[in-house]
Amino acid sequence: MSMVIDNIGQLVTNDPALGHGPLGLVENASLVIENETVVSVGPAGQSADQVIDAAGACVLPGFVDSHTHLVFAGDRAQEFTTRMAGQPYDGGGIRLTTQATREASDDQLRALTAARIEEARQGGTTTVEIKSGYGLNVADEARTLRLAAEFTPDTTFLGAHLLPTEYAGRADDYIDLVCGDMLTACAPHAKWIDAFCETGAFDADQCRAVLAAGQAAGLGLRLHGNQLGHGPGVQLAVEMGCASVDHCTYLSDSDIDALANSDTVATFLPATDFSTRQPYPDGRRVIDAGATVALATNCNPGSSYTTSMSFCIALAVRDLHLTIEEAIQAATVGGAAALQRNDVGRLTPGSAGHAIILAAPSYHHLAYRPGVPLIAEVVV
Ligand code: NIG
Repeated sequence: MSMVIDNIGQLVTNDPALGHGPLGLVENASLVIENETVVSVGPAGQSADQVIDAAGACVLPGFVDSHTHLVFAGDRAQEFTTRMAGQPYDGGGIRLTTQATREASDDQLRALTAARIEEARQGGTTTVEIKSGYGLNVADEARTLRLAAEFTPDTTFLGAHLLPTEYAGRADDYIDLVCGDMLTACAPHAKWIDAFCETGAFDADQCRAVLAAGQAAGLGLRLHGNQLGHGPGVQLAVEMGCASVDHCTYLSDSDIDALANSDTVATFLPATDFSTRQPYPDGRRVIDAGATVALATNCNPGSSYTTSMSFCIALAVRDLHLTIEEAIQAATVGGAAALQRNDVGRLTPGSAGHAIILAAPSYHHLAYRPGVPLIAEVVV
């Protein structure tokens, strides 16, 4: 079965060899997809079994959302409202979501996750990573990862999200559990392991132990770091060779140097800084230093309850001072780099046929028209 998206006014390929500029732009183009894979990029007018007429609109790769916490139950709208009245975010609400998630059945969690995935898809997200971290015991961490794996191959074991209430005062015992029985139960359902390296969550030695145990079990490494203040997260992520260090809101000069001299992707989650009234990271400096960056939603019920990558792109341009081209790259190939995938995030022969048809003539509209439903059609 072949399909062509024809009459594309502006095609973003993300391959400078195929078109002009950093986004590899091709005008008046068509994109032929066969068996879910892009087979050619050419001038308008190519034929196939199925034809989708883009009518002069912009087409770009589906968004790659490399950081989400989509498997959860419960509602924390009141926490957001309290925050807007001045209460700072400290991550403590993770325990409320853990309680609600433990109480939910598999079918309830599956339905909630499916609805969030569908919402993300309608917003143009075609690849998504999902973390655990709201089970915080062996059975519920394994259960939420098993459910996440029904939706994506990019699942991440985040048992070291926060100390559960029943382990209060016994953080090292909990870390032993995470590195032992919990990892054994979760590894079959996970591709990655992650930890929350932050004052109030886990320190560098605890996170190092978790990452090392995950690596020994064959998992790839990721880390939450430098979200609520300066700290050791970025340096630890680089030291351990993490694929990505996520948040990066508070960065020192040496953190930026470390990122620039590593293969670790700096993943910005600006909807979190928006929703927690934090400062935004200095994305401009990180890019100018030479680091690879990604943009992701961090969709979760506490610090960032949005699935909208378009919203993150608009924030990245307005508040992180990325150019619109850099923001588009960060939301597509940047996310793919953070997940160490080269099959998504681009529209080049051989890559996945995941495309967004915008209700706009150019990609600039994604930042220029924030809050507007600009995703006309998503082709997967
Ligand atoms: O990335 N930082 C830790 N985890 C999430 C917050 C989760 C929550 O508040 O429920 C985050 O912001």
